[in-house]
Amino acid sequence: MAPSPYVVPFVPSTSVFKEEIFNGKVLFCTGGGSGICRGMTEAILRHGANATIIGRKVDRLTQAAKELSAATGRKVIAAQGDVRQPETLAAAVKKTIEAFGRIDFVICGAAGNFLAPISGLSENGFRTVIEIDTIGTYNTIKATLPHIRAAKGAYIHVSATLHYRGTPYQAHVSAAKAGIDALSAVLAVEEGPHGVRSNVIAPGPIHGTEGMDRLENKGTADERAQWDLLYPSGRMGVIGDVANAAVFLFSDAALNITGQVLPVDGGSVHLGMLV
Ligand code: HXC
Repeated sequence: MAPSPYVVPFVPSTSVFKEEIFNGKVLFCTGGGSGICRGMTEAILRHGANATIIGRKVDRLTQAAKELSAATGRKVIAAQGDVRQPETLAAAVKKTIEAFGRIDFVICGAAGNFLAPISGLSENGFRTVIEIDTIGTYNTIKATLPHIRAAKGAYIHVSATLHYRGTPYQAHVSAAKAGIDALSAVLAVEEGPHGVRSNVIAPGPIHGTEGMDRLENKGTADERAQWDLLYPSGRMGVIGDVANAAVFLFSDAALNITGQVLPVDGGSVHLGMLV
């Protein structure tokens, strides 16, 4: 199997789990065309599942589906959609069921972000991020829940650690992610009796993502190495770290874990770091 481009040198392997644990399973991932969600999708595919990825930018999505399929040998459907528009999610679910007959796992990962102080954040800017992140998560749950109940499947919601304290320039994202954490907890409690699990992964700063590319790699290699020492784990996270957490949470090893938030942040939140 080819090495994953999403696991940069810090992480020695894509997974410690057996390759076949998701054979016959189907993943539905919003935001799967890029970044962390693409990495999580790749990891689930590498363990035997097929997948549908949903995103707004059709070119990027189609390319990602081709590359993911080529890298893993699994089937990947690219379904153009906007999580703010429930009818596009319904169409993506229909496509998935027609092709694969089931949905076992959902990653609610589509998100929007930019830096802005409250004083400079327009009502529409605030609302847009709430609509993508929080209402988009609600829409995705509504579109997929009957199939997840039928499969006794599981949700992973992608949140953040920003809202554990006041993170400057992130009022919109902090409010949106707090809402996602709450939605997941309610989903876990209401749907647990139907065999459905719901958990949150809260990534800290992740190397190589769109957001972090704007902030990091500005200094020398030595300066970046110093920055890594600020993390209790000794380094900033990589997409492979989040992907491995997703494999764990969807696997049978986590069958009695639901309603939880799992930070994947190298322990930085406990140090009160800014991100
Ligand atoms: C202030 C801004 C702004 C900025 C947009 N807005 N960018 N305000 N500073 N930099 C305002 C606009 O002015 C507008 O308000 C409103 O937001 C909507 O903007 P649109 O561009 O019309 O919206 P849309 O095309 O739907 O784009 C959504 C977006 C965009 C979120 C604004 O940035 C986007 O699609 N980004 C790509 C996805 C993304 O960001 N991925 C990274 C997610 S990372 P007005 O009032 O002018 O009409 C992530 C991790 C968080 O979520 C955790 C980090 C650690």
